[in-house]
Amino acid sequence: MFCRGTAQRHMKTIAIVPAAGAGERMGSSRKKPYLLLNHRPLLYYSLAALDNIPSIAQIIVAVSPGEEQLCQQEVTEKFPFKKSIQIIPGGKSRQESVCRLLERVPDDARQVLIHDGARPLITPELIKQAIAETMVWKATVLAVPVKDTIKSANDTLQIEKTFSREQLWAIQTPQTFESSVIREAHQRARQEDFSGTDDAALVERMGVRVKIIMGAYDNIKITTAEDLIVAEALLKSRKSETAEIAESAER
Ligand code: CTP
Ligand code: MG
Repeated sequence: MFCRGTAQRHMKTIAIVPAAGAGERMGSSRKKPYLLLNHRPLLYYSLAALDNIPSIAQIIVAVSPGEEQLCQQEVTEKFPFKKSIQIIPGGKSRQESVCRLLERVPDDARQVLIHDGARPLITPELIKQAIAETMVWKATVLAVPVKDTIKSANDTLQIEKTFSREQLWAIQTPQTFESSVIREAHQRARQEDFSGTDDAALVERMGVRVKIIMGAYDNIKITTAEDLIVAEALLKSRKSETAEIAESAER
């Protein structure tokens, strides 16, 4: 019994979900986490996928300060989640929100999995894969090869450089880390006043190798209004696929 308890403690993964952004690019009066996607709030989907993973011990979500109760009413109390979901106030930037979330992660956590509240189409399969790969690599990110050609340009929109596509990846979440690695990365970034657009960037600058896991093109981030339309269509097609499989199993 003792051994089993110890092993479980060492495997413990805590999921943290930054959802405290202003949603400016969405241009909607309702805050992004509570916008409805097929009759359910956007934030519900990320939490539901994480709720499905047995090795995740706890989920902590950061929302805009003052919206903790709204999140409780609209999301965590409205749907039957199995796990305890803690809601805390986020910070001014995504990095600050993650920093505050990390402060709530229990000391005995082995891994921290970070997933944006704005990526509702993540699947439990990809989350499980991220957790398993992080047992081998200390830091992993989901990513997909870029489809477009990427160039850089100067202020007057004249192209300066074209990048070779073979080496370019569009980075997604979840990003999963051994807990000591991500704690140190955020601490150092804060001390050195460094800000990055994702968590892996903070880990990379410490010289830790980050491993890419093949993500999914449909694991989109909801940023602008058209992303919501695409996400609804993708969710509907998933639903009809599941129904078809169930039907053919009955036949
Ligand atoms: N985020 C956060 N705290 C912030 C800013 C962002 O927790 N201060 C979260 C967002 O809620 C989102 C994720 O980080 O889940 C990715 O951010 P983004 O897609 O940029 O969302 P917003 O910042 O809300 O949107 P915008 O930049 O258009 O205002
Ligand atoms: Mg933002």
